[in-house]
Amino acid sequence: MKTESSPHASSSLHPSASRRTFLKVAGAGGVISTLPLTRAVHAAGSDAIRIALSGCGGRGTGALADALSNSVGANVRLIALHDAFPERIENCLRAIQSRFPDKVDVPPERRFTDLDGYKKLAETDADIVLDCSPPGFRPVHFEHYVQVGKHVFMEKPLAVDAPGARRILAANEQAKSKGLRVAVGHHLRHEVKHKEMIQRIKDGEIGRITHLRVYFNSSGVWVRPRQPDQTEMQYQVNNWYYFTWLSGDHIVEQHVHDLDVMNWMMGNRHPVSAQGMGGRQFRVGKDYGDIFDHHAVEFTYEDGTQGFSYCRHIPGCWDSFSEHAHGTKGFVSIEGHGHAIIQVEGREPVRVERGPDGHRLEWDDLLKAHLAGEAYNEVDNTILGTMTAILGRMATYSGQIVTWDEAANSQLDLSPSGYTWDAEPQPKPGPDGVYPCAMPGQTKAF
Ligand SMILES: NC(=O)c1ccc[n+]([C@@H]2O[C@H](COP(=O)([O-])OP(=O)(O)OC[C@H]3O[C@@H](n4cnc5c(N)ncnc54)[C@H](O)[C@@H]3O)[C@@H](O)[C@H]2O)c1
Repeated sequence: MKTESSPHASSSLHPSASRRTFLKVAGAGGVISTLPLTRAVHAAGSDAIRIALSGCGGRGTGALADALSNSVGANVRLIALHDAFPERIENCLRAIQSRFPDKVDVPPERRFTDLDGYKKLAETDADIVLDCSPPGFRPVHFEHYVQVGKHVFMEKPLAVDAPGARRILAANEQAKSKGLRVAVGHHLRHEVKHKEMIQRIKDGEIGRITHLRVYFNSSGVWVRPRQPDQTEMQYQVNNWYYFTWLSGDHIVEQHVHDLDVMNWMMGNRHPVSAQGMGGRQFRVGKDYGDIFDHHAVEFTYEDGTQGFSYCRHIPGCWDSFSEHAHGTKGFVSIEGHGHAIIQVEGREPVRVERGPDGHRLEWDDLLKAHLAGEAYNEVDNTILGTMTAILGRMATYSGQIVTWDEAANSQLDLSPSGYTWDAEPQPKPGPDGVYPCAMPGQTKAF
């Protein structure tokens, strides 16, 4: 494991500093001031908002469709694509062109491949860049987009390790000072039922929160087996889900949704420590990189409230994608992709249906702000979800009680020797092709 060479200010991950930041940025897409309409109207005189995507997989293609079919009347046009692998660009382009033939103009010279193609993407005159590449690349990509002055929509999680989280925060300060809008793909923050239930918690309807439970239990995701002509870097990037340096492990990549909601339920605060356990029981073998297939973590907040977190990737078990807050007067239960219920002692339960998909709403919210020339920044709150998930992984990998400060100040840098196809990723397969995974009690995980 490497340690970080360039010190990035970590103070914004400190509890008191984080709370101060919350005062400045209100909720998801908090509006803090009005900016000039400089980038909202394209220089060519057309009213089109030009977008470009890096990471043309499932989510990237979905995010494009959400942007192009927005409900706020924004005239969005896709002008460039980047993916590490050329075939993904063509698949994405075909899918988007068939749905939005009049809104796509991506000639071959604006299709960029390999690991450095994001830089060429950033040279186009796109107004908003979408980053839906694997999370391990997020800090490097985001820094670059901010440097060249692009508005950004980027997927969660924002990083896979603490040095990455600090880089995101530092670049985000730059983004704010340049007046750039930054959206983060935490779609649950835009769902009607989440917003209503969190407001009810804030209004004190369930009393003081005593504990929380959050789940992302599912069967797991795809496997992309090794091809004979691939370098080790190509193999790991293609099969990115199974490598901690690329996905953060599924507690970070997927369960971050619920952990972000848990922090939101707690008033956008973060835990001060975590302890947990995890391992791999079903998903063993050379196809599965170095991640676990289950984690269970107890998070403790500053006021002693505990959040119990569970995520599992094992088929044939009880599945749940949900968040629950229990208080002195009642409880709230929210299904990720379903309804929500609040039950308060002495009152009839109130059920709120899901409403429109948050993936669509997050684009409506961003584009509305863009059209109005308003500030928009979702990093300050959601970076705490990313860091909470990383804290949880540090606890399950190490088997120790890990404090927020230890996690947030960790120098453990999971990145490879470089971002080229012949670079060396840190995980190395053993003689049997299997990658060693963390061993609680032995692994230095923070
Ligand atoms: N918000 C949500 O509900 C949601 C849902 C799914 C995925 N996601 C997030 O979206 C991101 C992508 O997930 P996905 O499901 O689309 O995965 P995917 O594998 O389908 O797509 C990722 C794409 O990125 C490409 N890629 C790999 N390295 C790259 C690099 N360095 N630069 C550019 N492209 C690169 C891959 O070739 C692939 O085409 C992840 O961060 C994931 O956590 C969010």
